Amino acid sequence: MVSVDEIAPDVFRLCVFVPEFNLQFAHFLVRDDEPLLYHTGMRRMFPLIREAAATLIDVKKLRWIGYSHFEVDECGALNDWLGVAPRAQAVAGFVGAMVNLSDFSDRPARMLQPGEVFTTGKRRYRYVPTPHLPHGWDAGVLFEETDGIVFCSDLFHHEGDNPALTNDDLLGKVRATLRAYQSGPLMNYIPYHTRVPALLNELAALKPRTLAVMHGSSFRGDCAKALIDLDGALKEIMS
Ligand SMILES: [Fe+2]
Ligand SMILES: [Fe+2]
Repeated sequence: MVSVDEIAPDVFRLCVFVPEFNLQFAHFLVRDDEPLLYHTGMRRMFPLIREAAATLIDVKKLRWIGYSHFEVDECGALNDWLGVAPRAQAVAGFVGAMVNLSDFSDRPARMLQPGEVFTTGKRRYRYVPTPHLPHGWDAGVLFEETDGIVFCSDLFHHEGDNPALTNDDLLGKVRATLRAYQSGPLMNYIPYHTRVPALLNELAALKPRTLAVMHGSSFRGDCAKALIDLDGALKEIMS
């Protein structure tokens, strides 16, 4: 079952809770002249997510597909989406487009330069590379400038069947999840490396108003503070 919630005007969170992992998988669909999907989801979730998306847009008109890094929950169903949406195209940075999508994707991706902005009608998206944050050489985020939304992938990952959007501080739940992961097979999920503080400061400097989180609640509130606090939590737990 997919929960559909509007977390900002015309920005929808399509979420599947997987009890076996005690984890939510959120996909974000933005309605605009050229609709954008952030996270395709896994191949096996595709029928569910497509059905939920079809309640919001004509899926044949999906134009852009964004994701952070090459991993099944991020872009596993990319070719399924390209199959149902003839004008759809992935957007990715140099490494993502050249190293992974040049082979994986059934159609060429649009390669974004660091800081490049593209528009979809009313909205503007800025590409911010974040190599190895949360993980993966190709990692990056999209910042939606119109409403101040960071599509932040695995950053702020926390377990549980959580509300779609919260104003509550997420860091307690994030810390508890990462600590638990560090003592089991999921250890080293988000490695702490020398560039992490600068990357999180760069995202904080964008002054986002909403954090669109893949695993757990999305957050509206003081996002700059949350990003700086995340640096502290990662340093404390992951280094
Ligand atoms: Fe990931
Ligand atoms: Fe993920």
